Amino acid sequence: SRSINLAVIPGDGIGQEVVSQGLKVLSAVLPQDVKLETREYDLGARRWHRTGETLPEVELEQLKGHDAILLGAIGDPSVPSGVLERGLLLKLRFAFDHYVNLRPSKLFPHTASPLAGRPDIDFVVVREGTEGPYTGNGGSLRTGTPAEVATEVSVNTAYGVERVVRDAYERAKARPRKKLTLVHKNNVLVHAGHMWKKIFDKVGEEYPEVTTDYLHVDAATIFFVTQPERFDVIVTDNLFGDILTDLAAAVTGGIGLAASGNINPTGAFPSMFEPVHGSAPDIAGQGKADPTATVLSVALLLRHLGHDSEAIRIEEAVAADLAERAGAPARTTEEIGDALAVRVAS
Ligand code: IPM
Ligand code: MN
Repeated sequence: SRSINLAVIPGDGIGQEVVSQGLKVLSAVLPQDVKLETREYDLGARRWHRTGETLPEVELEQLKGHDAILLGAIGDPSVPSGVLERGLLLKLRFAFDHYVNLRPSKLFPHTASPLAGRPDIDFVVVREGTEGPYTGNGGSLRTGTPAEVATEVSVNTAYGVERVVRDAYERAKARPRKKLTLVHKNNVLVHAGHMWKKIFDKVGEEYPEVTTDYLHVDAATIFFVTQPERFDVIVTDNLFGDILTDLAAAVTGGIGLAASGNINPTGAFPSMFEPVHGSAPDIAGQGKADPTATVLSVALLLRHLGHDSEAIRIEEAVAADLAERAGAPARTTEEIGDALAVRVAS
């Protein structure tokens, strides 16, 4: 479409800094005739301290009206762990039914990756985004006594598993190698694991052109390091996907480059794009954060909205910028954003 009505949630820590650069590159890449409208939402630690709110109903409703959401980072040491994560970030993912958490990993040449120089590392993790141990099911018994018990129940529905598995098959089918790997732990988590495998095999019957594979999550972590070329598309549950995508980022150039999309493929609610990294309070406000992960998340956002050529321009600009970085003095957040904005505009 010829206009983008974007919600922006800078959030906490380095979130503000990286989001400004993401927006700068977005404005620079869009052609004149695409009208960009943004509205910033004051959500995160400061808001919570001021009003005690994480995500009020009114704002949740307003967010529904946007084409997409760009989010920086959520979480601050001054707020008890879990309050903002559950009350804001996960609340958005659940409320907007972001069942596909898309996290691509591509090894750019010239990055400080332990795998630098290895060609063909280019895979995407399709992490389930609305179920698993993230649903908050469980509880505590006899808290504070020596007999305390805590349970954290992983919820897996056939409906939820099938829709994300199907999405992963579609993505695999559209890629040159057409390979899909299911990652789980069905030798121990037999209830959920066997259901995932059963659905994975059943849906696979509709995709004869896609080659499939299964790995236990512990074995998958080995291959992420020793043989990442073997992966094309990976589908996995919410928690395994969380852990695997930090590892994927670390081995393919660092967490400063890892982008993600929380996608509702039906379009019923706006999808939300954010760097995989967190709020990094230790370096916040110092201009040290790498905005590249946010800029690449903007590319995912553009592709989601059908602006493919602009997405490609951003990805090419990032590749060129990373090539130039090798051996050069470190730049500030803003300098990297400026350089990328210049590249996408030309
Ligand atoms: C991520 C983050 C979140 C998650 C946290 C902040 C709730 O680690 O986006 O990967 O666990 O999904
Ligand atoms: Mn994570």
